[in-house]
Amino acid sequence: MMTADRLNLETHCLGKAIVSLKTTVSTNDVARDLAQRGALDGTLVIADEQSAGRGRRGRVWLAPPDSSLLCSLILRPVLAPVHAPRLTMLAAVAARQAIRSLGLGAVIKWPNDILINSRKVAGILTETEIRGDTLAFAIVGIGVNVNIPAAGLAELSPLATSLLAEAGHAIEREQLLRLLLAEMDVRYRAMVGDEGEAVFQEWRANLDTVGREVTVKSGDETIGGVAEDVDADGALLVRRPEGVLVAVTFGDVS
Ligand code: BTN
Repeated sequence: MMTADRLNLETHCLGKAIVSLKTTVSTNDVARDLAQRGALDGTLVIADEQSAGRGRRGRVWLAPPDSSLLCSLILRPVLAPVHAPRLTMLAAVAARQAIRSLGLGAVIKWPNDILINSRKVAGILTETEIRGDTLAFAIVGIGVNVNIPAAGLAELSPLATSLLAEAGHAIEREQLLRLLLAEMDVRYRAMVGDEGEAVFQEWRANLDTVGREVTVKSGDETIGGVAEDVDADGALLVRRPEGVLVAVTFGDVS
């Protein structure tokens, strides 16, 4: 089991309080409950297994017990609600960097999936609580497929991979978590000064989707064209063949 005492975190804020569970419904749900009861900024919830892990857009997030990094952070930044998506971008750039420092070529697929060799290795689910015109807290949930053997990937999704499958050897989940939190912590602290502008620019500069020919399924619509850039809100700017530039706010890119 992943426990707090083996982590040796070197962070200033993130993971200063840790709730470590063998099994739970969803670490995002536990974190939300704790946040509503006043848990501190940077509180981390980790679990070895989720019975109802959630993905973006109402999907399930599956992970065999003890195989993956399943964690949620309670964040209480002083940030305008319009900039809350930058917390997801923060997790994405940090996850990319953490996986890269293990020697694997991770990239960010718009909006916030982490891929290795075109297959998804990690996802992020951010949920916010807005009170009036302020962000009361955000829960940033991160799932990384760590030690799932190649044979177990197909039942997660046809386009899933794991660090084990890509590296050819097991990766210690504690090591990955340490790296991830260190990458997040330094950027999270810097957000106080610039409302997350640097995080946004780093995310933008590292989006593998930009410059590519894409097809985006966005609700009932399918938008095809060249992904030229993102706008200040993180929407993907797709140039359709007839020349029109469309800002896509959500969807699945293929
Ligand atoms: C996605 O890509 O759809 C987002 C996946 C997010 C999964 C993580 S696992 C830890 C946390 N708890 C959840 O129920 N979901 C997130």
